[in-house]
Amino acid sequence: MVALRVKTFYGCAKAYSSKATNITGPHLVCAMSAIIIRYPLILVNLKTYEEAMGQRAIDFAKIAERVYEKTGITVALAPQTVDLQAVAESSETPVFAQHIDTLKPGKGTGHILPEAMAEAGCEGTLISHSERPLPLEVIEATIKRAREADIYTVVCADTVEKARRVAAYQPDAVAIEPPELIGSGIPVSKAQPDIVRGAVGAVKGVNSKVRILCGAGITDGADVMAALELGAEGILVASGVVKAADPYAALLDLARAMQRWKPPLTDVVG
Ligand code: G3P
Repeated sequence: MVALRVKTFYGCAKAYSSKATNITGPHLVCAMSAIIIRYPLILVNLKTYEEAMGQRAIDFAKIAERVYEKTGITVALAPQTVDLQAVAESSETPVFAQHIDTLKPGKGTGHILPEAMAEAGCEGTLISHSERPLPLEVIEATIKRAREADIYTVVCADTVEKARRVAAYQPDAVAIEPPELIGSGIPVSKAQPDIVRGAVGAVKGVNSKVRILCGAGITDGADVMAALELGAEGILVASGVVKAADPYAALLDLARAMQRWKPPLTDVVG
């Protein structure tokens, strides 16, 4: 059974489709743009990099769209909150928030309301990135609120144990990222394969439907291949694309590796 999330201009609705397609697990369909989010997935976090704000954020969305058209590999983008609506309206690239708050509509000056983000075109969100960490109870509350606003959830974890704990809150995906490798150019999939393998086992042990991404230091196709071989179902990447001399070429290299990758026979048969 696959889960489809259909995005209308002013909100989202969830629908379930039959076994017609061979797409596995939860994915997003943008009714306006018909980009289907499949795994393996590339999620590009633009953070607060100067190279990726304002018009440059829109340029990255168009680059992601070109890579999707060339490879069929879904590239989602997490711009800064202030850029999100313009980016969402500028291309067919699925757009994620870097953070949302848990408050309900009403008196909440300065907070980020999930429903407002969804209305601005946000389809997913990062939760508790190590640069915006949240206590466990707030992570749980954020997943609940995101679900109410029909926003796809990717919870970041810095250890295997944390990945296991947050998987119990039933997010759509968990992203394992050791903070010490973030922005280092030293790929987690090669420098710390045990943390990736461990997180895959821990998360799937809690709920096999929860997807697992890995991130930190990933810069090229070989890093991606290593991550997929360890059982990751996608990557979370920032500087390897945002700070690349040629971001399009860098992103295409990551996507091409995903195109080449063949899941071990056991997975296919299983
Ligand atoms: O959210 C992704 C990020 O933390 C990874 O950073 O620059 O090592 O790809 P980077």
